[in-house]
Amino acid sequence: MFHVFRLGYVEFNTRNIEALKNYYNEVMGFTLVEEGPDGSAYFSSSTDHHNIVLNPSSVSAIARFGFQYKSDAGAKEIVKELAKLEIKAELKTDTKPGVSEVVEFTDPDGYQVQLFSEMSLASPGFKHSGIIPNKIGHLSLRVDSAKRSVEFYGKLGFTNTDWIEEFFGFTTCNTDHHVLNFFTSPQKGGMHHLAFELRNYGHLTHSMDYLGKNKIPIIWGPSRHGAGHNIATYHYDPDENMIELFTDADKYVKELDCFEPRPWHRDNPQKPKVWKTDDCISQWGTCFEKALV
Ligand SMILES: [Fe+2]
Repeated sequence: MFHVFRLGYVEFNTRNIEALKNYYNEVMGFTLVEEGPDGSAYFSSSTDHHNIVLNPSSVSAIARFGFQYKSDAGAKEIVKELAKLEIKAELKTDTKPGVSEVVEFTDPDGYQVQLFSEMSLASPGFKHSGIIPNKIGHLSLRVDSAKRSVEFYGKLGFTNTDWIEEFFGFTTCNTDHHVLNFFTSPQKGGMHHLAFELRNYGHLTHSMDYLGKNKIPIIWGPSRHGAGHNIATYHYDPDENMIELFTDADKYVKELDCFEPRPWHRDNPQKPKVWKTDDCISQWGTCFEKALV
């Protein structure tokens, strides 16, 4: 068996490669580790060779994303294990720098997913300017059916932690409340948002000042969500991908099927459940012009 345990990277195709490179370099505070002959750019948050990849393109959209797995079996065996789960996967080698082997498949909504066991360590360390998140926190995708997506990724070992009614499903592959979310949306496909974890509320405040200095407006927040209890803000990157910055997210204890207790929880213990939309979007009762769902 294999154990998927973290979201390693997200790749974007972009019509605005220079603007997005500037955003990840200057605003987010990631390090440009390598550039490909096709103009692609590989950015690291701290240790990995890359966590964000930007590919020049005529169309701006999420291209693919990669999860790291642990297994005693080789990548060829992972392909066979996925076949038993009725997932048609392919082993690819040396398709890009930093990751020599990926197992690639397409999920039910057409998203290209890569699994990798090893990534070379560029280890540039955290930068000293920019927002400087801890890491990629989670990825939220528009899908035809959140229920179908939760079931599909459940086959890969993702645990369903919460729901907003029946249209928004949260899943995790580690102790973070959510790593991958699914939003049943009439809009065919496309990322809903990508979220980066910050250290604390002070860091979140600093990030808002920094966005303001860079003339990037905050479109929602700050406020504390219900599911996950993360304090979150949202803004758009130069390609109008919605980006969340958050802190204080719940930690899931799989053995107890509940979240580590926090003073702001209204359930005791706080267990995975189905939330009503109005209870879930903002726990503080604040309203913003932009609706998130
Ligand atoms: Fe989020």
